[in-house]
Amino acid sequence: MLSKKIENTINKQINAELWSAYLYLSMSSYFESINLGGFANWMRVQAQEEVGHAMKFYTHVIERRGRIIVTAIAAPTVNWKSPLNAFEDAFKHEQKVTGLINDIANMAAAEKDHATTNMLQWFIDEQVEEELSTDAIVQKLKMIGTNTGGLYMLDRELAQRKVK
Ligand SMILES: [Fe+2]
Ligand SMILES: [Fe+2]
Repeated sequence: MLSKKIENTINKQINAELWSAYLYLSMSSYFESINLGGFANWMRVQAQEEVGHAMKFYTHVIERRGRIIVTAIAAPTVNWKSPLNAFEDAFKHEQKVTGLINDIANMAAAEKDHATTNMLQWFIDEQVEEELSTDAIVQKLKMIGTNTGGLYMLDRELAQRKVK
C-alpha cells in the first residue's frame, strides 16, 4: 500500500504531467500559427510523452492499491514572443518538474517506500534528458538569432522527431 501522503503527492504529480502535456500542446499550436511545422511536431511529440509520464504514475498508484483522483487541468499560456521565448519557458518548466520529482523522491526515501523510490529512478533519468533536450534547443535558437535560414534548418531538424 501507498501512504496517503505519497498517494496525494503522486495524484498532484499526475495533474502536473497532464498540465505539461497541455503546455506543450499549446506551444505546438503556437508554432503552427507561425508556420514552423517542425517545431510544432517536436512539441506535439513532447505533449504525447507527457501523457505517458502521467500514465506511468497512474499505473504505479493502481498497482499499489491506491486511489486516483483526477482534478481540473489549468489553462496554459497560448502565445509567446518568439520560438526562443517558448523554448526558454519549456526549459524553465522542466527544471520545475525536476524539483517536483526530487521532492517525491525525498518523501519516498523518508518513508522507506522502496517501490516508489525504484519507480522514480526512471523519472530522475528522464528529467536529465528533458532539461538537456530543451536547453539544447534554447542554445541553438540563441546561436541562430535573427538568421531565418538557420531557423528554417532547425525547423527541418525538429520535424524528424517521432513518438518513441
Ligand atoms: Fe514529464
Ligand atoms: Fe523525454
